[in-house]
Amino acid sequence: MKRLTATNAFRAAFAIVSIAALATALASCGSPSPRKIADRNGMVFGLAIKAGDIYTPETVKIMKSHFNLIVPEDSMKWVNIRPKKDFWNWSDMDAMVDFAEKNRMRIKGHTFLWQDQNGPYVHSLKTREEAVELLTDHITTIMTRYKGRISEYDVANEVFNEDGTLRDTIWYRLIGDDFLDVAFKAARAADPDAKLILCDYNTEYAGTAKGDASYELVKEMKARGVPVDGVAFQLHCMAELPFNEEAIRENIRRFHAMGVSCSFSEVDVRVKLPLDEVNTAQQNNVYERLAAIARTEPGAKSLILWGLSDKGSWIPRAFPGFGSANIFDKDMKKKPAYYALMKGLSGK
Ligand code: XIL
Repeated sequence: MKRLTATNAFRAAFAIVSIAALATALASCGSPSPRKIADRNGMVFGLAIKAGDIYTPETVKIMKSHFNLIVPEDSMKWVNIRPKKDFWNWSDMDAMVDFAEKNRMRIKGHTFLWQDQNGPYVHSLKTREEAVELLTDHITTIMTRYKGRISEYDVANEVFNEDGTLRDTIWYRLIGDDFLDVAFKAARAADPDAKLILCDYNTEYAGTAKGDASYELVKEMKARGVPVDGVAFQLHCMAELPFNEEAIRENIRRFHAMGVSCSFSEVDVRVKLPLDEVNTAQQNNVYERLAAIARTEPGAKSLILWGLSDKGSWIPRAFPGFGSANIFDKDMKKKPAYYALMKGLSGK
């Protein structure tokens, strides 16, 4: 038997360390990060974050390896960025923009023309002139500050009722039929390179009142020269509802045909609690199919998650009895939905 000399022992140890290093290298080669997969597939894979998330190491680590875009879940809404008409709170957005640049991520803005989370002074507007002036000032001030740094904006949000008519909001009521024209034109003038988006929920299906109304409205806006570049389907889904993949693809294709891109922009998939085998499977299916559609439709290529884990999710507050909508659980453990989403994203 060969004697184990000091040199041999050193060689053996070196070999073991080398094999271990090689195995680690191979493992990381074999499984590129979700962010790399998205980059390779030419996709935006994004995450909505709260102001504190960029200071939370665990979240930051996941963000860096998974996503190539972030969007403020609340920090750019009027009530936060402009709590008083003459008082701007830039600190959260400035920090997020810096964070995104430092980590080579894109950043999306959300949102300007909306009925919720406005400053109280918005609701005391009285005339068309006042409304046009304030909205234009708001859009211009934010987009000028972040010109060339924020690549896309939800300029308007949730403008439709379920029957496809326009929602009665302060902006529509005071400004009138050209309320969207005012907002999108101000946005284009402030930053000509930013992508300008009309965002809503329940507009993802072709063949529904709201889905078809949104398509017709964007078509008309384009025909009269209003600068709208994209539509965003929020997709706060309910796992138990039927999922019509073909109607989503059909909708994306008709927008794509007129040069308007689509995005799945606030994705979460809630279940009626408790989570069980049946609704887990339904939830997995929605996550996987949405990612697969975004990967394979040239007119989409963008999927943004509305939060990472069930811990900070807005769902239990907004929809009592529902929850478990995200891909990490309350303890930041990956759920089956995580793997389903990754499968859709990678196609494997
Ligand atoms: C939600 C946020 O997630 C919550 O934190 C906040 O309390 C309310 O707004 N559609 C949108 C988002 O466009 O801005 C909403 O975000 C969810 C519904």
